[in-house]
Amino acid sequence: AWRASLLRFDADGTAVYDRDGLLVTAPGPQGWRVIVAAGDFATLAPRFAAVPLQHLPGRILAPGFIDLHVHYPQLDVIGSPAEGLLPWLEHYTFPAEARFANPEHATELAGLFLDELARHGVTTALAFSTSHPASVDALFSAARRRGLRLITGKCLQDRHSPEAVRDETEQSLLDTEALIQRWHGVDRLGYAITPRFAPSCSEAQLRGAGTLAARYPDVWIQSHVAENRDEIRWARALFPNSRSYLAIYDDHGLMRERAVYAHCIHFDADDRALMRQRHTAAAVCPTSNLFLGSGFFDFAAAAEAGFLHGLASDVGGGTSLSPFRTMLAAYEVAREGQTKPGVSLPATRLWWLHTAGAAAALGLAGVVGNLAPGCDADFIVLDPAATPLLARRSGQARSLEELLMALIVLGDDRAVVSVHVAGAQG
Ligand code: GUN
Ligand code: FE
Repeated sequence: AWRASLLRFDADGTAVYDRDGLLVTAPGPQGWRVIVAAGDFATLAPRFAAVPLQHLPGRILAPGFIDLHVHYPQLDVIGSPAEGLLPWLEHYTFPAEARFANPEHATELAGLFLDELARHGVTTALAFSTSHPASVDALFSAARRRGLRLITGKCLQDRHSPEAVRDETEQSLLDTEALIQRWHGVDRLGYAITPRFAPSCSEAQLRGAGTLAARYPDVWIQSHVAENRDEIRWARALFPNSRSYLAIYDDHGLMRERAVYAHCIHFDADDRALMRQRHTAAAVCPTSNLFLGSGFFDFAAAAEAGFLHGLASDVGGGTSLSPFRTMLAAYEVAREGQTKPGVSLPATRLWWLHTAGAAAALGLAGVVGNLAPGCDADFIVLDPAATPLLARRSGQARSLEELLMALIVLGDDRAVVSVHVAGAQG
């Protein structure tokens, strides 16, 4: 058990802060640690008097962050300037992903990726691999060794892609099903059916992906949608019978619970209503959208329409794996859609969108993303005095809102003192 300050969330998303808190974990029924109790120390301590206690004065225990959309094969692409999404894919991304035909390269980058996520306090990710099935094996193997809850899948892209990353329609669907059977539900791992985006998938490949999505309803779906104007024009031209870019996925059986679409920037009211109707989630990627010049996600319209959404890095389009950088970019972007000038999202809401809210988007509320009884014991230890200016500003905070805003603006990996993963051995 740990005694420290605790940051957690109510079922309705309200942030709760226990200045003097207690977190108790124990081995759970499925073979990894779960949270048994989380709350005020004085209230809980009598029940757990016999449990050995680690006292961490001045530290904050918080849920591990969840990255709702990230590409592990794009670590070598971060910071590559281009005129927009499509040239960026052609000049930097596809060449970098081609190298994952080599399983040794995939294994090396999978290890680096998971180490970097941990260093930044990220304990769950919904990640793209490449079109090479061995790139999926490499990431799942590395995540399993670390005991992580990680979701990934083989990229489906049977057209408009260079030879080295293009797959074959029929084989790509056979590979996907074999990977589902090999990995989905093994320890804490989950599979995601992964059509790259509509322009890179034939009608037959999308239809096959939709068939698999219906056959395996607890498998995830991930893709990209409505990110960039040129991309949207291209998608609409390729699928003229669909009402919108988003509707292409719906027309192929790819919108349901556990489907997560990255970006969702250039939506109309019907798109937003469809997201809500299908219980489909948006992965909002503010650092990527700013870096590639894609546009601004409308947080206010998303909240009003009532569809699931959470935060994501989208590395390598995104510029950082750090949840602090993503939350800060989201704060800046969220000004755009606000009706009242000068007002953006509260820090407590930004933090929720990267933890418990992201878990809800994955259909994993009450499983990860929170410090609550029954949740997997994935949590981080934060030092709000990690750097001189952070120490000064967090010390001046008069409310939880001010404390979290100081961490979002001034915090980085140096504030993440340690990371605890429920499935880790020892
Ligand atoms: N659309 C299709 N592929 C990609 C990708 O790798 N990154 C981003 N940001 N958008 C995409
Ligand atoms: Fe992406």
